[in-house]
Amino acid sequence: MLKATGLTKRFGGVVAASEVSLEVHGGEILAVIGPNGAGKSTLLNLLSGLIRPDAGRIEFLGLDITRTVPEVRAWKGLGRAFQIVQPFLEMTVRENLMVGAIYGKPGTPLRTAQKVVEQVIELTGLSSKADTEAGELTLLEDKRLELARALCTRPKLLLLDEVMAGLRPAEAMEAVELVKRTRASGVTVLFIEHLMPVVRALADRVVVMDYGQVIAEGRYDEVAANAQVREAYLGRSA
Ligand SMILES: Nc1ncnc2c1ncn2[C@@H]1O[C@H](COP(=O)(O)OP(=O)(O)OP(=O)(O)O)[C@@H](O)[C@H]1O
Ligand SMILES: [Mg+2]
Repeated sequence: MLKATGLTKRFGGVVAASEVSLEVHGGEILAVIGPNGAGKSTLLNLLSGLIRPDAGRIEFLGLDITRTVPEVRAWKGLGRAFQIVQPFLEMTVRENLMVGAIYGKPGTPLRTAQKVVEQVIELTGLSSKADTEAGELTLLEDKRLELARALCTRPKLLLLDEVMAGLRPAEAMEAVELVKRTRASGVTVLFIEHLMPVVRALADRVVVMDYGQVIAEGRYDEVAANAQVREAYLGRSA
């Protein structure tokens, strides 16, 4: 579904992404993990188009999108949810989602947008909050809304950057169920996450980054047993 080849991004002297290559297969849930500063968010920003690579290439559904602006990537089905949630606070949950549904794909008829929004409200468990103003939501509900907003753009591939950050363990596990339902609805997922129980519960496959490079890739138990991965995590936190 998505193929990144040799992605490199420098910020001054820092090489935040160094020849990163990875593939996302249709239907899978792929986790990207790594210590702080490893380059995970940079990779996501490159994939969603917020920043441009100094070198490398990104293909999505067989099309070269390396130089494509973020909104066109979104229209093609590359969606993204953010860690910092920024809904329109004075609008209700349903109204916020209508914005996502209408602007996520230009030319969406109002009826279609309404249908999509109601489906997503159901899927994300926001039914009882649909008429609540976004400013009155709890943190977990905020996260649901952000995921719902992204889903209303009808992504084929959804990119998630630490969407569980700040949640209590029980809440994070609720969010895990939500991501599972999202995949079951036909959306491929790439997520960045620091919480290892979440990674273990969700990921079909895990890509590990360190110092801007991919250092390991495999199933959770494989990468967790990898000496280089253990070194990257344990060697530095001590
Ligand atoms: N816009 C930027 N300008 C300058 N340096 C940046 C910028 N974005 C990222 N960096 C640097 O690139 C490196 C990778 O950062 P990045 O945010 O991608 O890491 P990360 O793996 O997402 O870390 P975290 O787990 O803390 O979110 C870091 O050294 C960071 O300081
Ligand atoms: Mg980050």
